[in-house]
Amino acid sequence: MSASRPAAAVRVPIELGERSYEILIGERVLDDPASYDGLPRAASAMVVSNPTVSALYGARLHAMLEGRFARVLHVDMPDGEAHKDWASLDRIFDALLAQACDRKSVLFALGGGVVGDVAGFAAACYMRGVPFVQVPTTLLAQVDSSVGGKTAINHPRGKNMIGAFHQPLRVIADLGVLDTLPERELGAGLAEVIKYGPIADAAFLDWVESHLDALLARDKAALAHAVRRSCELKAAVVGADERESGLRAILNYGHTFGHAIEAALGYGEWLHGEAVGCGMVMAADLSARLGLVPQAFVERMRRLVARARLPVAAPASIGAGRFVELMRVDKKAEGGEIRFVLIEAPGRAVQRAAPDALVRQTIAACSA
Ligand code: NAD
Ligand code: GLY
Repeated sequence: MSASRPAAAVRVPIELGERSYEILIGERVLDDPASYDGLPRAASAMVVSNPTVSALYGARLHAMLEGRFARVLHVDMPDGEAHKDWASLDRIFDALLAQACDRKSVLFALGGGVVGDVAGFAAACYMRGVPFVQVPTTLLAQVDSSVGGKTAINHPRGKNMIGAFHQPLRVIADLGVLDTLPERELGAGLAEVIKYGPIADAAFLDWVESHLDALLARDKAALAHAVRRSCELKAAVVGADERESGLRAILNYGHTFGHAIEAALGYGEWLHGEAVGCGMVMAADLSARLGLVPQAFVERMRRLVARARLPVAAPASIGAGRFVELMRVDKKAEGGEIRFVLIEAPGRAVQRAAPDALVRQTIAACSA
């Protein structure tokens, strides 16, 4: 770490009335005292992380919190999607109770989407809700999961099925931490970056296509733009529909197929972003079968997802019957009818049901 002062953060506001907050994006915002200005001065801070991320960044976050809080506590949950479960949640509650943390205690989620989702859910539940701050350390978490207040754990029958809406007080997204991210995790994060263009911003889709090589090479300027634009687009959607009564569902482009893949294979076998990448190709394919987009759009999505080193075909071993059964558990399903996020044109998404026969054709065409 250099001794120079961190550069001023880019600030992306999330406008949610009294629950409004900012996403701070920049190199070394983690080490900038200004990133913590205005947070409550409670007696206790509890950092929730995992052993991988704690070893890399725990000391830096603790250094910023000490002095602001009388006690800076720490609990690690095991690493991995398979641990986005009751046991990890319980471990956090145990740590909070064992240290007699009161309802003003502030939780800091230091890690990727798994830590963020579990720590956020713990914050939503502990003493009926305590404040929390997201410190996302994966690309996926910086462009998506740390923003918008969805928190959850998985259930063996369905992804993210047990959870709550609970907005963070702030998101501190340090681009420098992405240097240590494994290649596979970078690709998984790119899936959620790719998602925003087709659903909300055709120009951003063009930009991602022309800068994908720079993003894969971790070019800092390209990453900064990708994180900022993704957050701006997500902020607009969440600001308009915080609790997903309609519009917010478009953020789940690729997720209906993707969640089914994750659940079918067992959580952690495919990374979430990998399943979303493949799911976006499948949702594009279904959009084309419904006559919403030309086949050329499906090929465009397939090319882009493949260039991001993500899978473009689901495992044939899942089979159409199991696929459909798992998708019926999707949170967007209504009365057992699956509602897909489909593309009408680059930059414009729609949510609707599709005939079972077409869904099965998509599964057959996009499995290998
Ligand atoms: P993850 O949290 O499992 O992190 C990926 C891996 O990278 C882990 O092994 C982690 O320890 C490691 N890691 C994290 N930061 C690192 C760093 N800087 N350097 C080196 N290693 C690092 O996975 P993810 O892709 O961040 O998150 C996926 C989860 O996010 C899924 O459970 C998904 O459902 C959830 N999600 C939630 C939302 C939401 O709105 N709440 C949105 C999208 C995804
Ligand atoms: N990642 C989907 C959402 O935040 O709504």
